[in-house]
Amino acid sequence: MTDNNINRQLVDKLLCDNVKALTPYQSARRLFSSNNQADWLNANESPYTNSYQLDDAQLNRYPDCQPTSLLEAYANYADVTAEQVLVSRGADEGIELLIRAFCQPGKDKILICPPTYGMYQISANTFNVAVEQAPLTQEFALDLPAILAFKEQVKLVFICSPNNPTGTLAEKQKLLQLLEAYANSALVVVDEAYIEFAWSQNWSQELAQYPNLVILRTLSKAFALAGIRCGFTLANPLVIQALLKVIAPYPIPEPVAQIATQALSQKGLALCKQQVGQLQAQQHTLLRELNGVPQLQVIGGQQANFILIRCQQKQALMAFLCQQGILVRDQSKQMYLQDCLRLSIGDRQQNQKLASAIKHFYQQQEKK
Ligand SMILES: Cc1ncc(COP(=O)(O)O)c(C=O)c1O
Repeated sequence: MTDNNINRQLVDKLLCDNVKALTPYQSARRLFSSNNQADWLNANESPYTNSYQLDDAQLNRYPDCQPTSLLEAYANYADVTAEQVLVSRGADEGIELLIRAFCQPGKDKILICPPTYGMYQISANTFNVAVEQAPLTQEFALDLPAILAFKEQVKLVFICSPNNPTGTLAEKQKLLQLLEAYANSALVVVDEAYIEFAWSQNWSQELAQYPNLVILRTLSKAFALAGIRCGFTLANPLVIQALLKVIAPYPIPEPVAQIATQALSQKGLALCKQQVGQLQAQQHTLLRELNGVPQLQVIGGQQANFILIRCQQKQALMAFLCQQGILVRDQSKQMYLQDCLRLSIGDRQQNQKLASAIKHFYQQQEKK
């Protein structure tokens, strides 16, 4: 037997049963990691790169678990108190911490509303926590009766608003009913990763009234900082204290804290707002272009920095775009989203290149 086989047997023997069944998350980077020249329109990142100052005077020291100036800066931005904020390695870590702190493996369940962001399910599976589903309606609205049917059965309800990948918002009345119905039995986690693109719809002002409301935020999208991995959980201070029991001792590297604090300064916030405006204008232009292509249909809403399309010859179109160095995200495996691609909004040049490539593809097909 080769060494490799011996190692494999040992790993198979030791590995947890629930982990054996898992496949790693197919992130945009995992799918196309070697293609550095490409136009990355597949992970809803910002196309902008902004500059920051780094002070290296403290790099010999472990960082604060929860850097005070960063907590205060985010609390100020979100109009909550610093006790209502937890900072983590991206919103993804926030999802994981909630599941670890509140769900007992092999016993408790979470509820998701597909089609939606994939990490709720993956994080739960990783910790052997079961996942129930209350799918959105065909129009991508919350199905309230379906959600309420799981009352007393789940510990966490994940609602993504604006929702990835449909770009739609959860209706306020339904969310309020849901918070009330679950007041004594579950936390309702509203994932606001894209909220800067629909700011008037944010839920942070409801935190004071609903102790079971939890909000997830990130610097990865509108703030153009996916590379530093920084996200926030906003919640009742008791929920935040529970999460602090399971977070790693030093989750936020010092350079991350410095950059994030600068991004949340007045200057940083003004830049973010300006770039959100630019992206929304770009989205408008791209939408106009796409609406002129009869072989595809724009579906869902446009409350975030992407557009969802249902298209003819999806596979061939995706392959053609890839050949042109344009990477977009295939969403066909999600419920209701057969033949759908998600296009992240890039800068003007990238969007023009994308629109031209799509038109060119269908013109070529017509000639065949
Ligand atoms: C809805 C949603 N929530 C959370 C995340 C993860 O954010 P972060 O980069 O902060 O981990 C994403 C990333 O794509 C997302 O789409």
